[in-house]
Amino acid sequence: MRDNIINTNKPSSGRMYDYYLGGNHNFEVDRMAGDQVLKVVPFLKKFAKLQRWALQDIAEEFTLRRGYDVVIDFASGLPTADHIHNRVPQGTTVIYSDYDPVVVEYAQEILKDTPNVYFFENDLSKPEELLNRPEVEKILAGRRKVAICIWGVAGFLFDHEIAGPAKYLYEWAAPGSCLAFNAQTADLDLNDLAIIEMFRIYQGFGQEGHPRRLVEFNDLLAPWRIEEPGWVSLLQWHGFGQSDMANEDVKAFGPMGGGYGAYLVK
Ligand SMILES: C[S@@+](CC[C@H](N)C(=O)[O-])C[C@H]1O[C@@H](n2cnc3c(N)ncnc32)[C@H](O)[C@@H]1O
Repeated sequence: MRDNIINTNKPSSGRMYDYYLGGNHNFEVDRMAGDQVLKVVPFLKKFAKLQRWALQDIAEEFTLRRGYDVVIDFASGLPTADHIHNRVPQGTTVIYSDYDPVVVEYAQEILKDTPNVYFFENDLSKPEELLNRPEVEKILAGRRKVAICIWGVAGFLFDHEIAGPAKYLYEWAAPGSCLAFNAQTADLDLNDLAIIEMFRIYQGFGQEGHPRRLVEFNDLLAPWRIEEPGWVSLLQWHGFGQSDMANEDVKAFGPMGGGYGAYLVK
């Protein structure tokens, strides 16, 4: 997988996502693969936006409403104008990370000298490699009561890549810490031809999809405790209704748009 993401002759899911969002940090190869996917599942463009917009709400929830002054975000993608650091009060420490070195390079260029905002290369399946970096230890200066975000990536992860980091982060974080988690792909109809084709295209460049049901996430994320009201669909999250989806979108992605989010606490 790493070989694929370093190689810019092959599409990368992160840069394809940037393309769906209308960004310009992507290559021709990403746009071609992205167009192939959008041809079979045009709803993915809206799906990507529903996912990305939630980050702005999460940034405010973490800082303005819950009072955290450190946000650690995994699998961040590009920190464009719609990302966390633009919605937090001045002085908040934001630590972004992603395993795609091209994303990291673009990200560092975007952030340049933005105070208190950092971007590191890290594979989310090894959060200890991020948290034990001397630079990160220095930034945190012992602060472990933190807000953690894992958003827009679960559908690409094996079970152990969710369960392992969830347990590690629970042990590492101080009581009172919070995790915002996005349960992607929860209602997908895996027999729907468009969904089958979407996964086939991603698999073609080495990015395997791992769809799972909502209830499976609860076990994978233990011992983090899901707060009331539990999983909220991204349509509800933004106050949208099903009228924003075409009939074929509802069939393929499920009536709630296919993605859910929740806050979990230690
Ligand atoms: C769809 S984007 C989501 C970006 C952002 N979190 C959001 O919700 O808008 C997925 C990102 O996850 C990154 N990614 C995928 N697997 C990862 C892993 N194991 N560790 C770190 N980053 C990963 C990809 O490089 C990509 O930038």
